[in-house]
Amino acid sequence: MEQKKKIIVGVPTETFPGERRVALIPSVLPQLTKAGIEVIVESGAGHGAGILDSAFTEKGATIAADRAEVFRKAGIIVQVRSLGSNPEHGRDDLDLLRAGQLVIGFCDPLGSPQAAKELAAKGTTVMSMEMIPRITRAQSMDALSSMATVAGYKAVLLAAGTLPRMFPMFMTAAGTITPARVFIIGAGVAGLQAIATAKRLGAVVQAYDVRPAVKEQCESLGAKFVEMELETGEAEDKGGYAKALGEEFYKKQRELMAKVVAENDVVITTAAIPGKKSPVLVTEEMVKSMAPGSVIVDLAAERGGNCELTKADETTIVHNVTILGPTNLPSTVPFHASQMYAKNITTLLGHLIKDQKLTLDFEDEITRDTTIARDGKITNPRIAELLGEKSPQADERKDA
Ligand code: NAI
Repeated sequence: MEQKKKIIVGVPTETFPGERRVALIPSVLPQLTKAGIEVIVESGAGHGAGILDSAFTEKGATIAADRAEVFRKAGIIVQVRSLGSNPEHGRDDLDLLRAGQLVIGFCDPLGSPQAAKELAAKGTTVMSMEMIPRITRAQSMDALSSMATVAGYKAVLLAAGTLPRMFPMFMTAAGTITPARVFIIGAGVAGLQAIATAKRLGAVVQAYDVRPAVKEQCESLGAKFVEMELETGEAEDKGGYAKALGEEFYKKQRELMAKVVAENDVVITTAAIPGKKSPVLVTEEMVKSMAPGSVIVDLAAERGGNCELTKADETTIVHNVTILGPTNLPSTVPFHASQMYAKNITTLLGHLIKDQKLTLDFEDEITRDTTIARDGKITNPRIAELLGEKSPQADERKDA
């Protein structure tokens, strides 16, 4: 009988500065082993998330002596941040990659299309976790949603730790403490999690989103939905992500939102448009109108921020308001962020590996949309367009 070649998945240590997540964690290994997959892990890859090498070996993984061994032995490399999402050190891995290898990770292809091109030039097949389509079938692979969940949660904790007030209401012998007022702008995955977390801490929460459909979800989590007379048209693209709505719209929105911002102690903004500069929703004038000691946490900081005073990865105090612009919150909760990411990766691997064989079916929406490069070429039309290349033909994209 023909002996099937074992599929080996490699987990290198993350090299982005300060990154503490890891792409697979020990608890998902039995599922992979059952599917006939071997896992090789770079020594120390889990340390940032509090996972020792021994925890991986106990679940059947092999520990590699060095990074080069992981890349040499594995046919599939799984990472949190591949080149694009790891601009500086990601490039060091290019020499270790070979044609035909499959790389899966966040690649930021819409923000850094050039990096996708560099990966493509190695002849590797590249699957970008940002490109997992937002469809029901792919929900358990949607790593952006997983990470946004963590970010929404942590944003509230940061705000609570920075605000000179407590979040809950207290009736004490020393008087009554009024609850903090929190305003969440953008009620997507991160925003809804922020609402839930702020409510759990006892704050009075208001929320706003350009999609009126989320009103009910906000209310079911205990937030008051801020109604605004704004005509958005279609606010979502067909991938389920927010569309840019134009400066006229944002100007009107800022006018209507100014009063709400002024009456809240905390504002958490989450409105980012994939691949585009974040719309400015909170102006300096609005910051000035907030009470001294108020806090803004801007989750859209990576692409310029929703507040015009935000500085990425910095804490700024302007007009007595503290503005935080964290860009890698999931890495600050590395254990659970890695657990969720590992589950997303494992489900994707299960989708691609059938009967112990890696089969990339480009007729399948998940595989097709997530793959950004193969056979030396960029295969995603949006990325090709950003690179000024001819869009890959539909029939060309189909043949595997
Ligand atoms: P999402 O696409 O589910 O949510 C964004 C929401 O903002 C959508 O509901 C959209 O309708 C809304 N929105 C768009 N424009 C708006 C506007 N002008 N006014 C009000 N609402 C508007 O995205 P998700 O998954 O919730 O992620 C939220 C953000 O958090 C993303 O920008 C993501 O990049 C960011 N994020 C930040 C992290 C960090 O460490 N800073 C980590 C993970 C995610």
